[in-house]
Amino acid sequence: MSREDPSALLQAGAARHAAGDLAGAERLYRQVLKRRPQEPNAHNLLGVLARQRGDRPGALHHTERALAAAPEEPVFLANRGAALAEAGRPAEAVIALRAALARRPEDPVTLRNLGQALCALGDAPAALAPLERAATLLPDAPEPLLALAHARREAGDAAGAAQAAETALARAGGEGALAAQARFLLAALGAAPAPDRAPAAYVRDLFDAFAPRFEAELAGRLDYRTPALLAGLLARSGVAPARRLRVLDLGCGTGLSGAALAPFARRLEGLDLSPRMLAEARRRGLYDALHEADLLDWLPAHPAGFDLVAAADVLNYLGDLGPALAAIHAALAPGGVAAFSVEAGEGAPFALGEAMRYRHDPAHVAGLAEAVGFAVAAREEAALRTERGVPVAGALLVLRRG
Ligand SMILES: C[S@@+](CC[C@H](N)C(=O)[O-])C[C@H]1O[C@@H](n2cnc3c(N)ncnc32)[C@H](O)[C@@H]1O
Repeated sequence: MSREDPSALLQAGAARHAAGDLAGAERLYRQVLKRRPQEPNAHNLLGVLARQRGDRPGALHHTERALAAAPEEPVFLANRGAALAEAGRPAEAVIALRAALARRPEDPVTLRNLGQALCALGDAPAALAPLERAATLLPDAPEPLLALAHARREAGDAAGAAQAAETALARAGGEGALAAQARFLLAALGAAPAPDRAPAAYVRDLFDAFAPRFEAELAGRLDYRTPALLAGLLARSGVAPARRLRVLDLGCGTGLSGAALAPFARRLEGLDLSPRMLAEARRRGLYDALHEADLLDWLPAHPAGFDLVAAADVLNYLGDLGPALAAIHAALAPGGVAAFSVEAGEGAPFALGEAMRYRHDPAHVAGLAEAVGFAVAAREEAALRTERGVPVAGALLVLRRG
């Protein structure tokens, strides 16, 4: 077969793809399309490749082209569904994934994707059957079981969730990122002690998945107010919105908090664990620099670099706030200001809630802040957002470094 032959090119591309040479594979797939612009397998594989790179528009484009040429092909439907889910379009994803499963009912990856898309739509009860089937079809894999544990928790079955998380933990061999996530879920269910923080991989995956629909959900359904409330408290604490400060937006997400902080900033930097949240933030064109990092790693390497460090709805992914407060203190120039929210709880310094976020006792947080050298400039109760129709009680703190 000649190297010019589209089938041979496709095969050679797939071999490179399997070997991890994404650029080489892409080159060959594109050569196929030059010869046969509608070739569905080349489009499908370019779609897979785009998903691997986190290129959501590319994935949507190529999976659509593949399906246009072969609308009944279950592999193309499955990849289309996965691309739609990753682009934050779970309702359309469910339709494509169900169509794929109608033709190939026992594909465990598609079953898992369907379950997760149903959870993203808020229909955890419907997610249980496909996730249970995926977990049965892959008896050694921890991933579908962990997804099942999350779905059961969301569906209100705490005991079933704990059982699935225990099995996922055993399947993961008790070690690695997946085991840490299973332990964290068990802790949120009250079946294990709360760790000092949410596992970084859990937070990253959670927000990577949430990124495309984050703003619509928070600003719309959840009536999210924290950035505006923090900016208001800063101004009332004597921090002028006069565009004079070097500002760091910790856990900047898609930039809702950056928009509220911009009036204070001569230079605005953002930092987040989630590359997909950062990609949304980058699109805003608001930040002078964006950093993909864990705040606990990044801050100590940047001493005295900022006049204002803010964290809106971020510290609730950490339990023990001592290390974070010390790191924020060190990253501030003398006289600098820290401003952040916590979800409020009392009776313990911190507790992990069922929603898998930590609550903190604001008085204890103020004590920790003073212990690392801050003066508390303001502390206020606030309703941070609404969840299932109920306001989430929180506290806002503004601290000044001496
Ligand atoms: C609920 S969002 C809030 C985003 C933004 N501050 C806002 O007000 O819209 C929380 C963000 O904090 C990030 N985050 C949580 N823990 C983090 C950590 N340890 N280091 C860096 N980013 C973190 C998450 O990835 C997520 O994007």
